[in-house]
Amino acid sequence: MTDIVDPPATGIPSDAERDDTIKLITDNADRVFAWKYDRERDQLVTLYNRAMASQWDSINDLDWSTEVDPEYLVQTTQRDNATVEIARAAKDLPGSPFANWGEKEYTELSIESLKATLSQFMHGEQGAMMVAAKICETVPWIDAKYYAATQTMDEARHTEVFAKYLHTKLGDAYPMSPFLEEQIQVLIEDSRWDIAYLGMQIIIESLALAAFGQMLRVTEEPLLRKLLRYVLSDEARHVAFGILSLGEFYENLSEAELKDRQEFMAENTIRNRTRSTTPEIWERMNMNVDDVRPFLMEAATKVDQSLFTGFQKGFFGKLVPNTRKLGLLDANDGLLRRQWGEAGLMEYEFADSTADDYDTYDAVAADRATS
Ligand SMILES: [Fe+2]
Ligand SMILES: [Fe+2]
Repeated sequence: MTDIVDPPATGIPSDAERDDTIKLITDNADRVFAWKYDRERDQLVTLYNRAMASQWDSINDLDWSTEVDPEYLVQTTQRDNATVEIARAAKDLPGSPFANWGEKEYTELSIESLKATLSQFMHGEQGAMMVAAKICETVPWIDAKYYAATQTMDEARHTEVFAKYLHTKLGDAYPMSPFLEEQIQVLIEDSRWDIAYLGMQIIIESLALAAFGQMLRVTEEPLLRKLLRYVLSDEARHVAFGILSLGEFYENLSEAELKDRQEFMAENTIRNRTRSTTPEIWERMNMNVDDVRPFLMEAATKVDQSLFTGFQKGFFGKLVPNTRKLGLLDANDGLLRRQWGEAGLMEYEFADSTADDYDTYDAVAADRATS
């Protein structure tokens, strides 16, 4: 007979609990003190000053008393939700698990899909907070340390507002997608300070600008709209921070060192073309993922492909021009230009610039000017 003994009340989670509550990642980068306090980088000084002036307050700048009806929210937000459109297209396939679905089920799926998307925003923002803190610790320039500190605060606020919106307006969040988790983990583990910048400020921030921008375009719910506008104001500065810092750093790297960075970009962006999904959505809809998947894959070929291309355009339209500014397209005889060209991305080369247009995104300053 086995005695069941309660574990001692230490407050430290057991191994089984630990997996659910925290995740450990080892960072291999050196921490750097910078002894030169002179403000040498004018553009970073300007950006830092702007970041200080446009800090917003998650309690007072957003009206959390706004009533949010999830059904109304998805009717007005999910007009171009690919998951829902694919599930609709799968309804008439022979043997379809969606055969008995009506509007009630599709609305429920829309709500779960929105919660899944906002959950990835929330987890991604926490990752961004940690990477910004890493940059603050590892970058050797004082102006960049100051800026990274403001970004860390921005990302804390973003994590907090997405978590609060989910928990107070929509319900239980979803776990982080393994794809996103892996992307952020490699940035935290890497020993080179610029890789955290390149992965976060150039790739993931471009992804965030595209994803938040797309949701803002289709959302009429006023609290979510304002939240997204304010988050986007900050994100545009974060991309600019990456371009200004890495542009300078990469001017002085050898071709061999630049090749490493080009390969990093190719590996981490072409893979991004397959958007991550949240399989737990189907569990919450009381369906088996493996049963549903073949029908979704077949139906995906039938739906309007512009559902996917709109997002890709938003993402690559930021990513490719920003990468050009870093000199990474053309180093090593155009290595990255060739690889991205084969993947069809070079049409975006001159699509946009967030190095100098971050001011136009500043919804916080715009609102203050009119109030
Ligand atoms: Fe953010
Ligand atoms: Fe950010």
